[in-house]
Amino acid sequence: MIGSGGHAAVLFDILRQNKREVIAVISPKELPINDVFNGIAHLCRDDDVLNFDKKAISLINGVGSLPGSRLRANLYQYFVELGYEFETVISKNAIVSDYATLGKGVQVMAGAIIQTGVNIGANSIINTGAIVDHDCRLGQNNHIAPGAVLSGQVTSKSNVHFGTGASIIQSINIGANVVVGAGATITKDVEENTVCFPACITKKVVK
Ligand SMILES: CC(C)(COP(=O)(O)OP(=O)(O)OC[C@H]1O[C@@H](n2cnc3c(N)ncnc32)[C@H](O)[C@@H]1OP(=O)(O)O)[C@@H](O)C(=O)NCCC(=O)NCCS
Repeated sequence: MIGSGGHAAVLFDILRQNKREVIAVISPKELPINDVFNGIAHLCRDDDVLNFDKKAISLINGVGSLPGSRLRANLYQYFVELGYEFETVISKNAIVSDYATLGKGVQVMAGAIIQTGVNIGANSIINTGAIVDHDCRLGQNNHIAPGAVLSGQVTSKSNVHFGTGASIIQSINIGANVVVGAGATITKDVEENTVCFPACITKKVVK
């Protein structure tokens, strides 16, 4: 497990419930004192991974994803180029269609729903309670933050952040590196490198 913050702790909890063994946590910081990490081996440098046979282990990307940060994507790229594989993690409390396809290293947290015909690019996070409805096709390194809803047939390119509680209507296309702000409602296609704030529409009613 690379990382020891909040996202890593949630993943750790899911892996324990799924009866997967975590050998060690890699973090330059002291591990937080909480029950989740209790007793786990702690390695301090990313390159400590290189002491493990790439065929014998899977990596978990425990680094979370916020708008503007490329750390999670860069770590994924670095270790994949060295020949390591990232495990796909799915909470037992998520609903994932048998007809959905998840890329390497995709993480699906509790309460998330992924419907029929969905395709999700590698290293993406479908966070707590998020909904990705039928036939959506999402690029690599996407983050669907808690409670966001993607209606059917939404597409996105790589490195898109769908903020907490955002809503995307059906058949919308989202360009690369877009940030959909928390609570935003998207009803039109969005060009790459755009930040979408929630609309504030006021109407003066004259009586
Ligand atoms: C849209 C977003 C990227 C903008 O970030 P930013 O450019 O740093 O913007 P700022 O924080 O400087 O905010 C500018 C103003 O817009 C407001 N604002 C920003 N995002 C907003 C949002 N999503 N909804 C309503 N208002 C928002 C701020 O309150 C601030 O208002 P003020 O000028 O009156 O103080 C960010 O606010 C956001 O929504 N990020 C997603 C967070 C998320 O999904 N987290 C999930 C973690 S798992």
